[in-house]
Amino acid sequence: MAKKEAVETSEAQIAVHWQEEDYFYPSKRFIAQANLTDESVYERFGLDNFPECYTEYADLLHWYKKWDTVLDTSDAPCWKWFVGGKINASYNCIDRHLEKNKNKTAIHFVPEPENERVQHITYQELYVRVNEVAALLRDFAGLKAGDTVTLHLPMTAELPITMLACARLGVIHSQVFGGFSGRACADRIVDSKSKVLITIDGYYRGGKLIDHKQNADIAVDLAKKDGQKVDKVLVWQRYPGKNSVPTPMIEGLDYFVNDLLKNYRGKKVDPVPMPAEAPLFLMYTSGTTGKPKGCQHSTGGYLAYVTGTSKYIQDIHPEDVYWCMADIGWITGHSYIVYGPLSLCASTVIYEGIPTYPDAGRAWRIAEELNVNIFHTAPTLIRALRKIDPDLPKKYNHHFKHMTTVGEPIEPAVWRWYHEVIGKNEAVIVDTWWQTETGGFLCSTVPAIKPMKPGSAGPGVPGVYPIIYDELGNEIKAGEGRAGNICIRNPWPGAFQTIWRDRDRYVSNYYERYCKDKNSKDWRDWPYLTGDAAMEAEDGYYRILGRIDDVINVSGHRLGTKEIESAALTVMEVAEAAVVPVSDEIKGVVPDLYISLKPGHEPTDELAMKISAKICETIGKIAKPRRVWLVSDMPKTRSGKIMRRVLGALSNKKDVGDVSTLANPEIVDEIRKVTS
Ligand code: WTA
Repeated sequence: MAKKEAVETSEAQIAVHWQEEDYFYPSKRFIAQANLTDESVYERFGLDNFPECYTEYADLLHWYKKWDTVLDTSDAPCWKWFVGGKINASYNCIDRHLEKNKNKTAIHFVPEPENERVQHITYQELYVRVNEVAALLRDFAGLKAGDTVTLHLPMTAELPITMLACARLGVIHSQVFGGFSGRACADRIVDSKSKVLITIDGYYRGGKLIDHKQNADIAVDLAKKDGQKVDKVLVWQRYPGKNSVPTPMIEGLDYFVNDLLKNYRGKKVDPVPMPAEAPLFLMYTSGTTGKPKGCQHSTGGYLAYVTGTSKYIQDIHPEDVYWCMADIGWITGHSYIVYGPLSLCASTVIYEGIPTYPDAGRAWRIAEELNVNIFHTAPTLIRALRKIDPDLPKKYNHHFKHMTTVGEPIEPAVWRWYHEVIGKNEAVIVDTWWQTETGGFLCSTVPAIKPMKPGSAGPGVPGVYPIIYDELGNEIKAGEGRAGNICIRNPWPGAFQTIWRDRDRYVSNYYERYCKDKNSKDWRDWPYLTGDAAMEAEDGYYRILGRIDDVINVSGHRLGTKEIESAALTVMEVAEAAVVPVSDEIKGVVPDLYISLKPGHEPTDELAMKISAKICETIGKIAKPRRVWLVSDMPKTRSGKIMRRVLGALSNKKDVGDVSTLANPEIVDEIRKVTS
């Protein structure tokens, strides 16, 4: 019911008010150098050539053994790509580049303190370091192909080095966003059944050296209580050989990576040829229930997909300096900072800190120094930069050929500023729509072929065929002016394989809704439900309107409203909790939290602060509510359901509509007084 309302009332209304925007065209100069200018790509990747079309992406990689079957649908809807093939992701991102490009920079690591020099790590050095770490993981930590390991690392070069060392051994890495709390890390250790945690002592953020080691202590402790014992904690040091933070090491549990590495100097580890469908990593993401879902990504299909889309949509050439500002702790970083760009032998930039630290010019100074020519970020940062000083980027001498926006819908006015001021009217823009689950892009323009349209992601990327259904399963056609649930008709190699150890949830969350026949082994019967609302313009461009499920998108980061609510409910005084999204000028959306207290407790500011702190402790600062509203009761339906729609209208200062059917309509005015 709630879903139906979301699409039929609010999203469709937005859609009706939405104006068509004019096209922008890529420059001749961009087209002249682009990787993909041949329009026949859409034919080559037509459904008539599906799934064989995707061998074009697989052929960009080195295979120890070629596949026998391109797409195996026998276990629908768990699709298996390139079955029979043997491949190693670490080999593809490093070893194969050495012959021609060993002296080229693979990673530019930019420390946040501006007085620390950028570290330029060549492919040869990356090779040496990844081998040494792989040897340590194998011989000291006892990890082998198929094991899982949890990483809780910030944005330093040690993160991709550790990921690639895992991939070399076929060890499944599960990187937890560095900004997440020890509690959130513990939940992921438990779910992934990791016996080893890899972390770092500290890192810089906003001018402060953060004590990150303390999160590891909390994580190990809480994981143990929940039944998962961590045997070893491997701790990188922000400054090798130096103690940067006060939290002490625990004897017999914690080991400094830099100390151990001395024993593995110069060691080489042969990359393990992995079956194409062996999992490469897990990436946890928020879902409609409180428990995060471990999206399981494959080795062969995933790597082929991110390599192909990095080449054609990101237009990455080996000579490019590519900077994606996402955090590697999110899927964007995995696919489009680490695996895609390195597989193409580009130079990828990793920046440790806050993009506006110490001032809003920082990003442009980095871009100038490194001569970055491809730039990738999210609307939340673009909005923030525009607000701080809309003319500032003009004062810097950076030049981008290509820019990406990702993570949330971008307003056309913000898009135009991005194009004009950051891109200096030179850069082509791609608005890439996709998800943790999808591994790589779903909708985007191919930059040299299709014109840009502010606010629209564009058509499906080659080989991806979106379709919009209404609540009843009828197709909503292009140009109808109505929004609906956007689905993908066909599988693609980047798609996650399942939810880690929870196939039922995978099927019910993503494939059940519009499935035509549950016993079918034909992919045509299994459209993939993205959980987003969208509408399709006459030209086949999709405009994404936002989530239809209980997930809110804060600064491009997916948070489950249920996760926040359950954190609030662990505070003793709290009886009921409801989270609603509130529009925010910079972050797009922020959570507002409504709380009703158990009898006998007074609504005080201290209590509101305590609840807010609890949420930061449980999930991380990104989940911090804008406001905690303590109310005497929640608006409820007669069956007792909290009407989040009404709370959302109050928080956003919008019309609450007809509330006469509520069990307690009088509460609406009372809450309005509290919130105004
Ligand atoms: C939203 C991030 C509009 C969408 C890659 C999706 C977008 C969710 C865009 C996935 C875009 C992502 N335009 N909305 N270009 N890109 N989204 O899993 O709601 O962190 O379902 O993956 O972000 O977020 P996730």
